[in-house]
Amino acid sequence: MSRAKYLSLNGKIIPWNEGTVHVFSPVVKYGAGLFEGLRGYWNDDKKEMFLFRVKEHMDRLAFGQRVMRYERIVDGDTLAEQCIALIRANEFKEAIHLRVMVYVDGDGEMGAPGPVSVAITAVPRPLPKQVIDGTTAHISSWQRISDVSIPARVKSNANYQNSRLAVLQSKADGYGAPILLNSRGKVSEGPGMCFFMIRNGKPVTPSVSNDILESVTRATLMDLFHESLDLEVTERDVDRTELYDAEEAFFCGTGWEVTPITSIDKIAVGNGKPGALTQKLQKVYFDVVLGKTNVHSEWRTPVYAGAKSKAAE
Ligand SMILES: Cc1ncc(COP(=O)(O)O)c(C=O)c1O
Repeated sequence: MSRAKYLSLNGKIIPWNEGTVHVFSPVVKYGAGLFEGLRGYWNDDKKEMFLFRVKEHMDRLAFGQRVMRYERIVDGDTLAEQCIALIRANEFKEAIHLRVMVYVDGDGEMGAPGPVSVAITAVPRPLPKQVIDGTTAHISSWQRISDVSIPARVKSNANYQNSRLAVLQSKADGYGAPILLNSRGKVSEGPGMCFFMIRNGKPVTPSVSNDILESVTRATLMDLFHESLDLEVTERDVDRTELYDAEEAFFCGTGWEVTPITSIDKIAVGNGKPGALTQKLQKVYFDVVLGKTNVHSEWRTPVYAGAKSKAAE
């Protein structure tokens, strides 16, 4: 199945079906890969696509390459340029999701630091229904991976086996999404998203030492809560039973954007509908990512603006 016309492999734009990797490579054998998920938002009034917080994503990817001792750190600006070239080649004019993958290629064994390859995909991704309707959630019986074994703050492919186990359990048990506790029994995050709750009128999120991915969206929302809703987010340990007392709760992430949680373990969150504050925050968030406001223009990278000026040269 071809989800887009082209993808980018080691800087070359090639047909989608040619994006292959050898079965003997460390990325296949050991999950020796790192990735970033980014979104491109299409603003139809401006006829422009905006990539959201590319620099922060590329910085996190570089951090992962250092921790995993890659033999070369791929330059973030180069990756950003390759993302833009790929979107232009596919001529996307709709909401998209990009995946930037940096992985150990070749035929090495467990400790191979390279050769390092880069693959970038971009596929259409419309607004998920659950962003409007909300999702049910439950506490997973799987525990979040720990910083002393497989660090959650490094966005490594292998981490997502932990996420998959939790997602598979949620599906089997009929919930929309899992919330994982960490080895200390504190609330950590979802399988591909961070967690916030509103308790006693105040936004709260697990701190970065709770085995979470240090999420770009989480950081964005902390700023937006402060700047647009005049609320400070508290980062701290969160107990499971606090979730049953929250007035509102939501997941956040590049993929999950701001998704209201309507129940946890079949206990309604608030009145069981997306919360009022969550909905206010969604409006602020979507105005920013779509470039409907001039606020935080430094977070948005226009994709087609440069192409027009190039064509005029
Ligand atoms: C485990 C996990 N937590 C949180 C997030 C949210 O991170 P971000 O907002 O940077 O997309 C992701 C997203 O990819 C994730 O995989």
